[in-house]
Amino acid sequence: MDRPVIDHRGPEFAKLGTEVLEGLRPVFQTRGPVVIYPSSGSGAWEASIVNTLSPRDRVLMFETGHFSNLWRDIAIRMGLHMDYVPGNWRRGASPADVEARLSEDSNHSIKAVMVVHNETSTGVTSRIAEIRRSMDRVHHPALLMVDTISSLASIDYRHDEWSVDVTVAGSQKGMMLPPGLSFNAISEKALAANKNAKLPRYYWDWQEMLKPNRQGFFPYTPATNLIYGLREALLMLNEEGLTNVFQRHARHAEATRTAVRAWGLDILCEDPREYSNTLTAVCVPEGHNADRLRDIILEHFDMSLGTGLSRLAGKVFRIGHLGHFNDLMLAGTLSGVEMGLRLAGLPHQQGGVTAALNSLLGSHQQSALQAPVAEEALSSRKR
Ligand SMILES: Cc1ncc(COP(=O)(O)O)c(C=O)c1O
Repeated sequence: MDRPVIDHRGPEFAKLGTEVLEGLRPVFQTRGPVVIYPSSGSGAWEASIVNTLSPRDRVLMFETGHFSNLWRDIAIRMGLHMDYVPGNWRRGASPADVEARLSEDSNHSIKAVMVVHNETSTGVTSRIAEIRRSMDRVHHPALLMVDTISSLASIDYRHDEWSVDVTVAGSQKGMMLPPGLSFNAISEKALAANKNAKLPRYYWDWQEMLKPNRQGFFPYTPATNLIYGLREALLMLNEEGLTNVFQRHARHAEATRTAVRAWGLDILCEDPREYSNTLTAVCVPEGHNADRLRDIILEHFDMSLGTGLSRLAGKVFRIGHLGHFNDLMLAGTLSGVEMGLRLAGLPHQQGGVTAALNSLLGSHQQSALQAPVAEEALSSRKR
């Protein structure tokens, strides 16, 4: 990324732009267009709304945590009519609730269902495939819009197969880049809705983007250096293979939960079907402050854990295990937490790190067992 900025109206840029715009599609598992904004993820949130909806349109959202609250706030400021289903911040959006709410809406006044796939404040992953099935069962035509800011390129996510209409994403998590790029993957149905959507827009306007994108260009100055990084990130994801990337995240998440259980602490997420593979929010026992633990770990080990956001402040700390991350990074992370727990005098059992290492070793042992078989096959072929 530390390279000279090239002319964003010139032929070299056209090649770069085309490469990343095309290369992004498989990451969203879509054949449709993906637009890239030079903005943080919040921009892509706003873009999803202003491109598809009109003032006073009714939308259905689910309180999954801090980030669903923020997306809701944008929608309200844009003058939408909000149906916000309350939640306890320990569960994802309920597919049954989606079905119930939409089946009551017989005149189809709800124009969009908006769900945060992976709620970064809680470590809970909503089941988008099931939500899609709920919408289909009641034959409701609402758009489905999904925030994948902390799940894209880390947790399996299928824009086309799940008929998602707008997927919102950002550069700074599974894409392994600094903050500063955000994305909308767009379905044909969303493009059709865009034609009639009356909310005012300029910077976020898909049509303004899609026209020059056909030649690899952007309507205004793109974040060229981040796009260099994006090209490299796409190469890295391709090299590892998306399925392997998902499996790596699943292994690290499982090892993290194994450590948390061994420490005798609670995982915030209540439903094992909704455990996040990108981060784990851990509850500290009553009467203890998670931020004091975070301060101690930062001071002694120079490791910054995620804080509890808004109503979870002081109650949880969050262990991130996503993006450019490997077994030894996780081992170091968990070691820092375990030492911090001791230094902070927080009641816990020892042995979390050992339990996590055993969990990580399990899959290595399996592949080590398979390796001689592969060698044997190779040498017999040579023979
Ligand atoms: C799930 C989710 N949605 C939206 C956002 C907002 O993105 P940004 O802070 O890049 O504007 C975040 C940020 O962490 C997030 O985790």
